[in-house]
Amino acid sequence: MSDMQDFIEKMPKAELHMHIEGSLEPELMFELAARNKIDIPFKTVQAVRDAYHFSNLQDFLDIYYQGMSVLITEQDFYDLTFAYLTKIHQQNVIHTEIFFDPQGHTDRGVSFSSVINGIDRALSDGEKKYGISSRLIMCFLRHLSEEEAFTTLEQALPYRDKIIGVGLDSSELGHPPSKFERVFAKAKTEGFLAVAHAGEEGPPGYVKEALDLLKIDRLDHGNRSLEDAELIDRLVDMQMALTICPLSNFKLAGVKDMRNHPIKKMLDLGLKVTVNSDDPAYFGGYVNENYLAVADNLDLTKDDILALARNGFEASFCTNTQKQAMIARLEDYGH
Ligand code: ADE
Ligand code: ZN
Repeated sequence: MSDMQDFIEKMPKAELHMHIEGSLEPELMFELAARNKIDIPFKTVQAVRDAYHFSNLQDFLDIYYQGMSVLITEQDFYDLTFAYLTKIHQQNVIHTEIFFDPQGHTDRGVSFSSVINGIDRALSDGEKKYGISSRLIMCFLRHLSEEEAFTTLEQALPYRDKIIGVGLDSSELGHPPSKFERVFAKAKTEGFLAVAHAGEEGPPGYVKEALDLLKIDRLDHGNRSLEDAELIDRLVDMQMALTICPLSNFKLAGVKDMRNHPIKKMLDLGLKVTVNSDDPAYFGGYVNENYLAVADNLDLTKDDILALARNGFEASFCTNTQKQAMIARLEDYGH
């Protein structure tokens, strides 16, 4: 093992962009399919993995929504979430902020309460067993209507204390943030923080809409902001955090060669960038593999790695006291 790999693996870190449904490994997919008597169009774990070749976001999303069809009961959501926490505990992740897509389940007849109660119970157990702190972010599927998003927001209100914020994911092109301006305004009045996927495939104008219309507190991806110098300055000035997902960018073909991944350039520009896994079961790596991919391909130094990890803690939705405690652990480690 290289010295850098060892350094990354042992480093305490946060993850701020991970769709819990995207952590469904093929082994668990088969187990849940059998438990719930659901047909999946694959015979073996290897056949599932072999199907994970994507040429763009939509290609991936089609397989991702099909994969989550095995999730039915509260226990399924518990098992999914606890498996992810077990994995990241081995990777020395000490804080995670998890997305979930309720509409991917309620549209199949699964109750909102099964989804949230299963995830929430696993997060509590993860805190007790592994000491991992967490927050939950509910995403609206942007290919669906504003009205359906409003319905989802209503369903979430009884669970207000379990959900820190709302997000926006799924097919970006053709579904600009402006479509959800009123939903996000309502969510903000209910006290939710806001994030949105923007500039993953969509143009810089979508990032501006996320800032101006959705009033986001953090930007998911944001890669295409680099095409607009004024926008870069604005993001730097306001120290808006970007949740960058290196292996996701590569697998969805936004970045053709990891040696050209923009995260080093972003760091050098003064953007507050963080490293995350997005959908680890589909993109070939959890958070450590994402750090290692950029470290290796971009010749990052240990100071770069520490700066990325520090951004992760600073950009989290924790209290200042919690952030300071986590940053102190990182500083201890870096010295
Ligand atoms: N849902 C899960 N992963 C996603 C991504 N990378 N972009 C948009 N929607 C998603
Ligand atoms: Zn994502």
